[in-house]
Amino acid sequence: MNIGKFKLKNNLILAPMAGVSDVGFRAVCIMCGADYGVCEMVSAKALIHNSKKTIDLLTTSKYDKIKVAQIFGNEPDVMAKAVQHPALAKFDIIDINMGCPAPKIVNNGQGSALLKDIALAEQIIRACVLVTDKPITVKLRVGYNNGENVAVEFAKMCERAGAKAITIHGRTKEQGYSGQVDYDTITKVKQAVHIPVIGNGDVTDADSYEKMLKCGVDAVMIGRGAFGHPQIFADLRNKKSKKTIYYVKKHIQIDRKYFEDKTIQKELIKHFLWYAKGCKSTAKLRVEIAKQNNIDDTINLLEKNLER
Ligand SMILES: Cc1cc2nc3c(=O)[nH]c(=O)nc-3n(C[C@H](O)[C@H](O)[C@H](O)COP(=O)(O)O)c2cc1C
Repeated sequence: MNIGKFKLKNNLILAPMAGVSDVGFRAVCIMCGADYGVCEMVSAKALIHNSKKTIDLLTTSKYDKIKVAQIFGNEPDVMAKAVQHPALAKFDIIDINMGCPAPKIVNNGQGSALLKDIALAEQIIRACVLVTDKPITVKLRVGYNNGENVAVEFAKMCERAGAKAITIHGRTKEQGYSGQVDYDTITKVKQAVHIPVIGNGDVTDADSYEKMLKCGVDAVMIGRGAFGHPQIFADLRNKKSKKTIYYVKKHIQIDRKYFEDKTIQKELIKHFLWYAKGCKSTAKLRVEIAKQNNIDDTINLLEKNLER
């Protein structure tokens, strides 16, 4: 599949995940076969105000061969300014978040709130498309409330407005991250547009991957299925991968190039806990991990205990 001039080899993508898809984690997922990982979402408004914290979220490494940023906001002019911000200059593709269900986003009329205002969503996409030659893509959900399915209409609007691809997470905003993925809607979305469609939601193994592929999607995006297991991108391609500790060390090594240990230890505790899953005594190990305040000690602890 291609997005603009960018060619994907494996049609597998690591999802944007705030607080999770950091530069090191994206790199290990890419090593295992993800074509790219989308950076954590950034606020268009914070970006145009040059927030350092926001710009830090856009840290990339040599592993990000296809660099994809994701912005959120609901003001077309602010979104267009963000697209032109120098911090996004190095990016190849810019994705617009129209699916986030978090109250602090939705209550500002951003993220999945835009599913309820297709006219405004269209203005936003058009405003972004107008100011750049880079592919603009959109990530959306099935609809806002359960029973209000806007996906096909919304997807057609994205295509009309100039989006070069869309990602559909097969859930409503009301569902959040649980309940059934709506494969039927993903299939209908794929049939309704001519731009590439990336399917997303609950892909964690070969069976769920197969289910998603049956929708006819051009590529598959994986989020939680990669927690503690970047090797999922190798597993799904029937490729060999290395043991988890190898990726733990790489993840940290790459993050250490850009961030201080103090920040990494704080931000990566969730990753350490996920990496610990699947051990004989995961619960005990997790308690020990939570007590650590030094990265090297944490790595040693994982090295001694990880079996997979
Ligand atoms: C911790 C977390 C953070 C997320 N942050 C973002 C985000 O920044 N942007 C976005 O579009 N989606 C975000 N999502 C949604 C995921 O990209 C994805 O659509 C969702 O998790 C469903 O895919 P999965 O079942 O493979 O996890 C986030 C999900 C999680 C669990």
